Amino acid sequence: MHVCDSTNEVAKRQSDMPHGTLFIADMQTNGKGRSGKSWESEKNCGIYMSLLLKPEMSTVDVSQITLVAAVAICRALEANTQIKWPNDIVIGTKKVCGILTEKTGDAVICGIGINVNTRAFPEEIWNIATSLYIETGKKHNRDYICAKVMNEFEELYDIFRTQGFGAIRDEYASLCATLDKEVRLIRNNEEVTAYAYDISENGELLIETDEGQFFVRSGEVSVRGIYGYV
Ligand code: BTN
Repeated sequence: MHVCDSTNEVAKRQSDMPHGTLFIADMQTNGKGRSGKSWESEKNCGIYMSLLLKPEMSTVDVSQITLVAAVAICRALEANTQIKWPNDIVIGTKKVCGILTEKTGDAVICGIGINVNTRAFPEEIWNIATSLYIETGKKHNRDYICAKVMNEFEELYDIFRTQGFGAIRDEYASLCATLDKEVRLIRNNEEVTAYAYDISENGELLIETDEGQFFVRSGEVSVRGIYGYV
């Protein structure tokens, strides 16, 4: 597609298509981010795609699919990328890619936005957003990256499907920029400072506060570094 509102929305409208169908656009007029935010989707600059999945497991954990996708993207981008738990791909202290996974009926839609050749961002996000072009000083081929992400995802999804997230946990943890750091957890305007020390077999963030050790599930809270976004 050249243009659509949001590849996630297109995938939802066509969720009767087979497992593995990929919806991809050159531009989105209503790109969606997490927590009701919008996703900057300038024409031909980024990768805007949504993968339609029909998981066989009846009680699939949608948030774990997002973590699997995050590892696939890091493998594919190779540009010193790390994961800000749970699912932002960062280079240094700035975000280069976001993932929005949604469930509709028996389908799961994994929406991926990668800032590839974007040269500048709106004022509100320039200090937290980056692109492969900005980081490397050269243009990148979007088709090539997209194919690489899908190849890596296919391999990892197979491991996830047959062995569970536990089999991917170590690689996820090795890529996770949130670990071994003081973080701020923000829930309903309440902030708690904690030390993030590990990732569980299910993909939860393990934290320690003055009150003890806790598991944090993605979607429950937003996590920030003590000094900035990562
Ligand atoms: C985030 O907030 O970090 C998630 C961003 C997800 C953006 C992608 S772009 C392709 C797909 N279609 C959308 O509308 N959103 C996702």
